[in-house]
Amino acid sequence: MEPTDLLTIGEAAARAGLAPSALRFYEEQGLIQAERTSGNQRRFRRAELRRIAVIRAAQSFGLSLDEIRGALNSLPDRRTPTRRDWEVLASSWRALIDERIAALERLRDEADSCIGCGCLSLQSCGLYNAGDRAAAYGHGARYLYGDDRGKTG
Ligand code: FES
Repeated sequence: MEPTDLLTIGEAAARAGLAPSALRFYEEQGLIQAERTSGNQRRFRRAELRRIAVIRAAQSFGLSLDEIRGALNSLPDRRTPTRRDWEVLASSWRALIDERIAALERLRDEADSCIGCGCLSLQSCGLYNAGDRAAAYGHGARYLYGDDRGKTG
């Protein structure tokens, strides 16, 4: 490998459009790797720039660092994601986004029940009632609607 194939942390950060501290953080999190010089300075292979691009894109999908780490580690030999790898990862994350949108829509619907209510009742509030026992009987504030099936108190 030519010495010029290795980037200092400042060079890599500038190419990635990030602060050097972000690269140090990604490395600490096991998302990217850096070699060390004899003086213990980081040197990044150019391929790490593509990995950083994938990490940033995945973060814009709303993925946690754990999820991103898991996806990157699932690639054979922990390789830098190829164009095809990125297509596969992005399409799997699309399904994740759909699930999160559905969950947020459910949350929005529950919030609709709370607007103008203020009860914060463990029995009847869908947002406060994490177990949501009343959800089995339909959407919204079931007990406020007069449905007392399953109500214990
Ligand atoms: S505050 Fe949530 S249903 Fe009353």
